[in-house]
Amino acid sequence: GRDGPLAGKRVVITAGPTREPIDPVRYISNHSSGRMGYALAAAARDAGAAVVLVSGPVTIPVPPGIQVRNVVTAEDMLRESSAAVDEGCDVFIASAAVADYRPETCAGDKIKKSSDQMVLPLVRNPDTLATIAARTDAPFAVGFAAETTDVARYARDKMQRKKLRMIVANDVSVPGLGFNSENNAVTVFWPEGQTSIGPESKQQIADRLVALIGEHLDRAAD
Ligand code: PMT
Repeated sequence: GRDGPLAGKRVVITAGPTREPIDPVRYISNHSSGRMGYALAAAARDAGAAVVLVSGPVTIPVPPGIQVRNVVTAEDMLRESSAAVDEGCDVFIASAAVADYRPETCAGDKIKKSSDQMVLPLVRNPDTLATIAARTDAPFAVGFAAETTDVARYARDKMQRKKLRMIVANDVSVPGLGFNSENNAVTVFWPEGQTSIGPESKQQIADRLVALIGEHLDRAAD
């Protein structure tokens, strides 16, 4: 609430998958449910922040007291996140599972089947998190990472490359955690340290992450 660790702060959170259209009836996407990001939105709200959730298509309800900007594609996610950050942002948390590539073109009509094989040219999508973190007025930027091997090395690499203050690596070695599940286990890295949280519910993880962000935000201010 009012005297919580994020009182008076503005927090923008990306959540859910993106959908990259192939033709009017088909798309490329992934299994993100939005649960991790929606839990973070509720946790940040409870910590006193004004929260904007930039959300890909999901089926879970928006927590009360949260402003939502709905998006479909990775390009939408960059545009809406940038607009939300333009309105003022102290903390940016990227929990969305954004498609790295999109079809080069979206066919105007449904693609007909013809030959036994077909090739779909893909092009790189813009990186919302890296773009926000590279702004001259960049907020405290927190990324997520889903790694299977060398978790610490890859997560720290990603933190440096994308100029992040903190990165949250999902433990994807354990079945029932991460994408589209109720629970998660994570290791959080920042330049001088790390800590592991879980396995526990995504809401419990979100509450701990928000508390941790609150501590580091204070450190950054002095
Ligand atoms: O939605 P749930 O079912 O609850 O699942 C949660 C989750 C597993 C999707 C979530 O915890 C998670 O890990 N999200 C990031 C998934 C991922 O693999 O990210 P990445 O390694 O592709 O990207 C690294 C970071 O850059 C992420 O913070 C991502 O949001 C961001 N990114 C990536 C690509 C891109 N084009 N734009 C981005 O902003």
